[in-house]
Amino acid sequence: MKLTINSQTKTSLREYLVREGYSFPCGGKGLCGRCKIIAPSLTETPLDLRFLSENERADGVRLACDKYFEGELTIDCTLAKASTITKIDEPLVFSILNDQNTIIGIADGDTLVETLVLPAPDVNTRDLRAVVGKNAIELYEKYNVAKANVLLISGTPERVFAITELREFSTYGESYDASEFMLPAEEVFVLPTPNETIGSNLILNLLDREEGSLIIDGSTYSLIKDNSVFVARVTSESTELGLIAHEATIAYFNSEFGVKEVLSVNKNIPLATPILSQAEEVALRALAFPRVRTAINKLARKIVVLDLANDATWQDLFSEISHKD
Ligand code: FES
Repeated sequence: MKLTINSQTKTSLREYLVREGYSFPCGGKGLCGRCKIIAPSLTETPLDLRFLSENERADGVRLACDKYFEGELTIDCTLAKASTITKIDEPLVFSILNDQNTIIGIADGDTLVETLVLPAPDVNTRDLRAVVGKNAIELYEKYNVAKANVLLISGTPERVFAITELREFSTYGESYDASEFMLPAEEVFVLPTPNETIGSNLILNLLDREEGSLIIDGSTYSLIKDNSVFVARVTSESTELGLIAHEATIAYFNSEFGVKEVLSVNKNIPLATPILSQAEEVALRALAFPRVRTAINKLARKIVVLDLANDATWQDLFSEISHKD
């Protein structure tokens, strides 16, 4: 919808649009990349570079939540008005528990309605259940539903075990009566946690990726090759040693498996192309389609954890790179 807006003083576009009743998918926190508007006169920001393709930016697409304007501005706005909210017929909720944030999304069948990106609480049962439960209830109230049919949980092993109090690793997802976890839904579906280092968030980010693509997510490096998923955890902080370890790990995957491209989830790091996390999108598909849950279980059974710190090839690569300069 085309809108012409006006302000005598420098004004936050997000605040202006919220006052006009528009709702921002991640609350305007700059985390989802979905508050797209067409406004070629607005200067591109790092947020646009992070989430939008070159073609989109050339077509005048911008993200609304970090922009300011002064005077008259015409935009084409695709954001929904909060007041147009209607009842959800098939309420499904997913919750993605990361160390950085907690994401809660509500869907109507396979259509995403809203996502909340919240700070990550401490890793304990009470705080995690409180954050997920309270915010799910707020979404139910907002969308006039009693509760979700299914609440899907994905996360790091520590967070999934804390919220569910489950203790067994598993290579398949399982349904539970939601009252067992004191969460507001009919049923809770917990995605697989194959071992203590590999959680379901990693699997969501790997599903359907091309063979030979090395995906870096935080300190986890993973690649699908010949019906296996090879995963290594390497601390690659931005210290000199961390960067050498990072480079050695890429070289290792390349020499052992052949790397077609190096991709990094939600982060700019050397030698890698940043990509967006697909965890939310795949979680939504897993909620709506049993075949996606089956594909996730299959992938969970293919994980091979590599111990690079004790691998002679990796150590050689590390020392070769550290002596390069
Ligand atoms: S609302 Fe999520 S990036 Fe703008």
